[in-house]
Amino acid sequence: MRILVLGGAGLTGSKVVSEASRKGYEVYATYRNTPPPPSSKAVWIRTDVDEPESIRKLLDEVKPDAVIDMHAFNKVDDCEDVGKEQCWKTNAVSPGLWAKECSRRGVKYLTVSTDFVFDGENPPYSEDSIPRPLSQYAVSKLVGEQRALLEGAIVLRTAVVYDADKRSKFPGWVIRNVMEGKRIGVFVDQWNNPTLARDLAHASILAIEELKGPILLHAVGRECASRYSFAMEIVRVLGLDEDLLEATCSCRVNQKAKRPHKACLKTTKIEDVLGFVPRGYREALRDVSSELKEVWMS
Ligand SMILES: NC(=O)c1ccc[n+]([C@@H]2O[C@H](COP(=O)([O-])OP(=O)(O)OC[C@H]3O[C@@H](n4cnc5c(N)ncnc54)[C@H](OP(=O)(O)O)[C@@H]3O)[C@@H](O)[C@H]2O)c1
Repeated sequence: MRILVLGGAGLTGSKVVSEASRKGYEVYATYRNTPPPPSSKAVWIRTDVDEPESIRKLLDEVKPDAVIDMHAFNKVDDCEDVGKEQCWKTNAVSPGLWAKECSRRGVKYLTVSTDFVFDGENPPYSEDSIPRPLSQYAVSKLVGEQRALLEGAIVLRTAVVYDADKRSKFPGWVIRNVMEGKRIGVFVDQWNNPTLARDLAHASILAIEELKGPILLHAVGRECASRYSFAMEIVRVLGLDEDLLEATCSCRVNQKAKRPHKACLKTTKIEDVLGFVPRGYREALRDVSSELKEVWMS
């Protein structure tokens, strides 16, 4: 099978590229500004994948059997103002265009959405729960998933993606500060299911192998936790100073985009249809602890 990975140099995209190559698939991958990892076996193409022309060109030239789309505009606060247009183009419009072009050619297409489509007031949420997005980012991702599903796509909703990788935003912020001896306030009132990027990559490849769209699945780690509990576990696994974490409320911080308080997702459907659920954060952090130490402390 020939797989085209969009956003192949990103956090999850790079894990998709490695696993698909390891499995013996022929892998093509796109990148934009962030250069691809030097060791990768994929054929790399530098392009902006939001332009309709580049969508048709890529599909005509690469002729993939499947497209795994990991590209996105992930700056949640920028979607409220400075990045509004790009946010809409990348998250709301692009998945529908890709899904349509893929469907016309009989190519499977998978894209990724977010737990932020929910307001966090009535967890845990299943795939049948009614979304109520609280921010421009969340609206853009919700529209993107709906347009893609209408064109027969596979859509995975995920949350707080991280790995033993410096691109992991939340763990990176925690580790950098604590290693510098700085005290940080971490929210006790924002809950999500932290998801190991390599597990999300694995679920994406399994879904492409085994499923036919349209289908929507929650592909998140099996445990929901506050940012504070997640941060505490990261610090413990790395043997850092737990006293530097201070439990705090998001009400004390002025975040431009509103976030859901408890966006906990159920994972029963993905377990049923794929027989796989990404690891909970405690198990995952233990499993990757030596890699985390290598990445952050050596
Ligand atoms: N990270 C999370 O916590 C989280 C939470 C919920 C959902 N998700 C979803 O999960 C998926 C994977 O996220 P991730 O965190 O692994 O992504 P990421 O590390 O931010 O990588 C995204 C990649 O997409 C590329 N990209 C963005 N716009 C592009 C464009 N127009 N043309 C070409 N390339 C473009 C970026 O390239 P450049 O860097 O070179 O610009 C980047 O390498 C996304 O759909 C995301 O919305 C992530």
